[in-house]
Amino acid sequence: MKHLFTFLMTAVLAITAMAQVPRADYRVIPLPSVINGIKSADFRLTDQCLVNYPTGNRDMERNATMLSQYVEEMTGMHLSIRPTLSVKDHVGNISLLIDGKMKDDEGYRITVTPRGVEISGKTPAGVFYGIQVLRKALPVGAAAAVNLPAAQVEGTPRFGYRGMHLDCVRHFFGVETVKRYLDIMALHGMNRLHWHLTDDQGWRIEIKKYPRLTEVGGWRNGTTLGHNSPVNDGIRYGGFFTQDQIREIVRYAADRYITIIPEIDMPGHMVAALTAYPELGCTGGPYEVWGMWGVHDDILCVGKDHTLQFVTDVLDEVMQLFPSPYIHIGGDESPRVRWQECPLCQQRIRDVGIHAEGKKSAEALLQGWFTTQVQQYLAEHGKRIIGWDELLGCDVDTTATIMSWRGAEPGAQGALQGHDVIMTPVGPLYFDYYQTDKTWNEPSAFGGCNTLKKVYEFEPVAADLPADKRHHILGVQANLWTEYITCEPQIQYQVLPRMAALAELQWLQPNEKDYQDFKVRLPRLVDIYKLYNWTYRAKSLVLENEDKE
Ligand code: ACM
Ligand code: ZN
Repeated sequence: MKHLFTFLMTAVLAITAMAQVPRADYRVIPLPSVINGIKSADFRLTDQCLVNYPTGNRDMERNATMLSQYVEEMTGMHLSIRPTLSVKDHVGNISLLIDGKMKDDEGYRITVTPRGVEISGKTPAGVFYGIQVLRKALPVGAAAAVNLPAAQVEGTPRFGYRGMHLDCVRHFFGVETVKRYLDIMALHGMNRLHWHLTDDQGWRIEIKKYPRLTEVGGWRNGTTLGHNSPVNDGIRYGGFFTQDQIREIVRYAADRYITIIPEIDMPGHMVAALTAYPELGCTGGPYEVWGMWGVHDDILCVGKDHTLQFVTDVLDEVMQLFPSPYIHIGGDESPRVRWQECPLCQQRIRDVGIHAEGKKSAEALLQGWFTTQVQQYLAEHGKRIIGWDELLGCDVDTTATIMSWRGAEPGAQGALQGHDVIMTPVGPLYFDYYQTDKTWNEPSAFGGCNTLKKVYEFEPVAADLPADKRHHILGVQANLWTEYITCEPQIQYQVLPRMAALAELQWLQPNEKDYQDFKVRLPRLVDIYKLYNWTYRAKSLVLENEDKE
């Protein structure tokens, strides 16, 4: 009798323990395009499992280390990593594999059977995205084991360019904040950081040949309070990234398969540089690093050869720091009032034979001429330019990629003309805009109302764009300008959870998107935000009628 009792108790305990093992759920964000359940037992993940990676492959070794770290953060289980080329070693473990037969460079395939887990990609980047999916499939919370349902799980991104933008000028954020931003991007399967480093309110990238850019241009004497009120806080504000710090950030990003595209905005948004080197402007100054927001009339004087020398010198150092094939040269919001008055700029117009054409003024075409000089210089060094959609009004050639921000229409126009295009329209992809129209209890933002739902429902490829032009839409990005964002929790609040909606735009085909289903899956992603203590807008999870907010 006593034995029977002991046996029953042991059995009950064992069954309870089994029932308590949490189970992974592959319906993550962005949603995999295939989740085919396999009729067999689950795979039991415990700290006895190893993470195998192909011997000698450094990228895959780093992938393995990251997977091990993610599993530990999610569950507390520590998995060791092991180099191996033996298929026998797969049994009972997680194996990271390169499969050259897979179609897409960034696609992933996860195969879970009771005997083991394989995460495959054509490239280490694809494997990394599979790792992110497995990571997000795990429940958050200490566990001695997690059951992984037997299944084949696959995904391929819709767009090759999956971006986020970060303005480190209007307010300055240091190395650790940028790294965390990259971590957040990696969790969401994103691969391009557009890093805004120079503007009227500060110059944030060390340039060895022009030290005053950061010594002088990196600092402003005060900042307007609120939305361009006449009250200035009078507090000196600034900072910049040293070249060593930039190299460190670029490497950190590359380890997460994120390319950083630096933006050096020109010829406008240059007052910080003009303050440091007044001879670069049409009037010669004096100038002052700007403590207000908006568009400044003082821009680079392109009538001077010295200005072109300055720009190419700066770009030489930028190219050394950033391996990205693209350099963003801005080109937005360049008033031409100084050029109209400047004898040197007018002389340049005559010298290069510019004549106004229809709606395009001679000064607009002068911006086109200047941009083309820069474009050709970068092309000689194997780089291409990205510029804001104002470039469409300046006759630049189609090797310039257009970033469509004043709506999606300029992007569609650009694609029709043969430009590659990245879609970042203010509505709904400016994440410095409010997330609701009930703004009274929100942190200060630029204005507007880009709700989670509006982000989710945006379609970047216009329905009437002809089939032979659709490939020009390289991808989608959300922008985070920081006039009204002063600290990291505010950065996170503005982007989370809207980045989750953006991730589905970037990864899913239009017919795979379903907002209601997305909302059901969102809380599990938010559990991960909580795990890392990231700030997010919780109201976006609970309100059902965001579009009416
Ligand atoms: C921009 O928002 N000025 C590109
Ligand atoms: Zn000039």
